[in-house]
Order: sequence, then structure tokens, then C-alpha cells
Amino acid sequence: MTSQQSHRKDEHVSLAEKFHQSANSSFDQVRILHQSLPELALSDVDSMTPFAGKQIAYPVMIEAMTGGSERTGQLNAQLAQLAAITHLPMAVGSQSVALKEPDLAETFSIVRHYNPTGMMIANIGAGHSVDDARKVVEMISADALQVHINAAQEIIMPEGDREFYWLDQLAAIVAKLDIPVIVKEVGFGMTAKTVQKLMSIGVKYVDLSGRGGTSFAKIENFRRPQKEMAYLDDWGLTTTESLLEMRKLSARPVIIASGGIKTPLDAIKALALGADVAGMAGEVLHHLITDDYSVTEDWLIHWLQDFKCLMLLTGSKTVKDLRKQSMVFSPELESFARQRFIS
Ligand code: FNR
Repeated sequence: MTSQQSHRKDEHVSLAEKFHQSANSSFDQVRILHQSLPELALSDVDSMTPFAGKQIAYPVMIEAMTGGSERTGQLNAQLAQLAAITHLPMAVGSQSVALKEPDLAETFSIVRHYNPTGMMIANIGAGHSVDDARKVVEMISADALQVHINAAQEIIMPEGDREFYWLDQLAAIVAKLDIPVIVKEVGFGMTAKTVQKLMSIGVKYVDLSGRGGTSFAKIENFRRPQKEMAYLDDWGLTTTESLLEMRKLSARPVIIASGGIKTPLDAIKALALGADVAGMAGEVLHHLITDDYSVTEDWLIHWLQDFKCLMLLTGSKTVKDLRKQSMVFSPELESFARQRFIS
């Protein structure tokens, strides 16, 4: 398992961790105003929510990251255990490497050994055929499929793709698969226009994956011998900007917000801004890499308990109530909203 592809998967993990601490989360640009009278008890708070045809325990998921090498297979096994113990949905990283090198399939399918019945989401790049999409779903007996759209990442990679005619293949995948299909970014965010285009071809689930957390611009620039596209390090919409963009839509898809979510408060803010589910990648990886598995498990269990406490503090008996918050934006975010005619 030492192919160039496997090496790249290992590098993504170590570089994501290298840049993790310095990321500037856009959730600092949003304040939820404190209300002193929650009129609730913790036992009243219900964090269950419907998502992709199932009920999930919290509106939170472990995002697509990895697989495709021995080390990342072990990480997938640990992520699957975390998802099983916390009942969170989990996505694996892009499985296209396993379509090219079938002996790498077990670095993904291992998740079912540790999490046989939980909600598991397959992942593939846009541009793949319906047949490939079916293969990756089958590989992990997935309940849903994420198709990632990563034009900015590919452009920064010298060996990356240079053709991005994606909509027809995406439409075919959405039409032919009988499980939910989520179209996701990889850290560059989405405008209302992008989401409108996706909805026009039948997409019902989007993962905005905005700037402010793991940066594939930084990761791929670091991997380049000449880092001449470093000026793209700040390319893209932040996660909070992407969420505000969704206010321009008259009809909305189901929205997953990822990109820079580290604390339960970040997730609460994402939901207050209109997300249906908050997704976390880099932060979970950071804990797994720097701590033992059991310490990471304790951290995530506490994280979810704190999430419920914050639902209480914000007077939210249900996940839907999180949408009713009074919020104040930083001057920068407020200016973005104004210039984009978002009320
Ligand atoms: C990712 N991400 C990702 N996304 C995807 O759709 N397919 C993939 O293969 C990967 N690979 C990957 C590797 C690593 C190491 C990381 C940290 C992330 C992107 C991920 O799902 C998420 O959208 C972004 O990382 C933003 O979330 P965070 O990391 O800021 O919480």
C-alpha cells in the first residue's frame, strides 16, 4: 500500500493537522445573544432530528476525510468506532482511489466492521459515472452518498484535473441512485447561485463546506514544489457567508454546514444561521492524532453533552428552535450580507 495515491492520502492527514490550529473560524463573526430566561430543563431538550431518511441523535456528523492507505484505514476504523458510540452519521473520504486500486477498498469497508448499523456515507468526486457511484456505495453499504465538487483544489494541484463539466453526471447520479445524494464542497463554500444550479438538476442535499477550517488551498500549495498559487489560500466563501447566501433562496435543500466547526457553540451558530446539520472534520482528526482513541471518545461524548446544554441556554427545546436566535454579526460579515443584498 505505498502507491502515490496512498502517499497523498497520508500527506493530506498530516498537513490538515499541521494547519489545523492556525485556521480562522468564521463562527467568531457571529454572536448569539444571551437570554436570561430559558424556561426549560435539560431533560426537556430533544436533540433528535430527521436527516436523509433517518432520525439522528444530534444534528451533527463526522465529515468525509480519509481512507486509501494503511494508516488512513486505521483512522477510518477509529472514526467508525466514534460514530458508533455517539450515534453520529459519518462519511468516509473519497473512495475513487479504491476504484483504481481495488486492494485499497478494505481501508474504507473496515468502517462496517466497527459500525455495522450506523448511518454511513460514501464519498466520490464529481465527474464519476453512475456505475462508479454505485460501486462506492456498495463498498461500504452506505446509507447516503456524498459527491464532492473541488474545482479550486484541483486547480491548485499541478497534477489536478483541468476539465470541470460536472452537472450532467451529477444529474444522472441523483436520478439513478435510490439513496440520498449530498453534493459537497471541500472548504471553499457555496453561493446561492451554485446551490440553485444544483437544485435545478434535482439535488436535495448540499454540504456547504466553507472556508475557515481545513484549507485544501494551503494543503495543496504546501505539497507543490513551487508554491506559486499561495495567493489562493484565502479563496472561497467562509461557512458563515455560505449560510447567509442560502437566505437568498426561495426554496432550500437540506443544508449541511461544515468548515471550521470545532466547538459545540460553532455548531449551534451554524444551526441558528439555517443549517440542518453541522459537520466536523479537522477537529475530530486533530483529537485522534494528538490523543489516544479513548481520550478522543470522551472528548466527543462531552462535546455532545455540551451541545445539549447550549440548546438549553439558547431556549431551544428542539433543533428547529435553534433557528429562532437573536444574532449580531461582525462588521465584516454584516458588510458581506449588505453587499450581497441579504436581509
Ligand atoms: C477532507 N475533506 C474531504 N472531503 C471530501 O468530500 N472528500 C475527501 O476525500 C476529503 N478529504 C479530506 C481529508 C482530510 C484530512 C480532511 C481534514 C478533510 C473535507 C472535509 O470533509 C470538510 O468538508 C472540510 O475539511 C471542512 O471541514 P473542517 O475540517 O474545517 O471541519
